[in-house]
Amino acid sequence: MDSLRLLILPGSARAGAFSGQMAAFAARAAERLGLQTRVFDLRALALPVYDGDLEAVQGVPDGALALQAALLESDAVLLVTPEYNGFPTPLVINAFDWLSRIPATEQHPAGLAVTANKPVALLSTSPGPLGGLRAMNTLRQYLQMAFAMLVAPQQYALGRAHEAFDEQGELRDARAAQSVQGVLDALAALARALRRP
Ligand SMILES: Cc1cc2nc3c(=O)[nH]c(=O)nc-3n(C[C@H](O)[C@H](O)[C@H](O)COP(=O)(O)O)c2cc1C
Repeated sequence: MDSLRLLILPGSARAGAFSGQMAAFAARAAERLGLQTRVFDLRALALPVYDGDLEAVQGVPDGALALQAALLESDAVLLVTPEYNGFPTPLVINAFDWLSRIPATEQHPAGLAVTANKPVALLSTSPGPLGGLRAMNTLRQYLQMAFAMLVAPQQYALGRAHEAFDEQGELRDARAAQSVQGVLDALAALARALRRP
């Protein structure tokens, strides 16, 4: 059987982001599990803040179609979110809001058709003690309710993220690394169970 294709979406718009470091760590761990991984830069899509007038004139921006294509080419998604005021970042929400506006055409399915029943797991990072837990819980509801994604029950919030990684980008705390591994194991098992033979 082909290896699972994992799309990793870090949610920060900042160089050196803790969520980016976690995404890179998770990508290496997933590759050791035999998954094909792709870390996808949402900021590089340069999506404008959702604007209905712009949509009416120009349609959905190409960046949203690029995200849709990346989702289509994946069997599972890992979203790594920072927390802004208890919420996921605007970068993540705006990208998914645009995705939800893609209409079906002869070239591609509707945006929401691509996320439906797609397995996703969540990680969060923060320098604070709760590790962005509130953002992750909000994201769980958003992805399940609006995007019909199958969110793995296992999740992990990395607190004190500014102290968590060593110079090689490895997690210093073995329990933290094990928790990430547990989330990846659960996501891979879910994706395998859902994959059509
Ligand atoms: C607008 C804003 C709001 C924030 N709100 C929270 C918060 O609610 N909880 C938290 O733990 N950290 C909060 N932070 C701090 C972020 O966790 C910190 O900036 C972190 O480095 C952002 O993630 P990144 O490193 O992946 O970019 C906030 C930061 C910003 C810029």
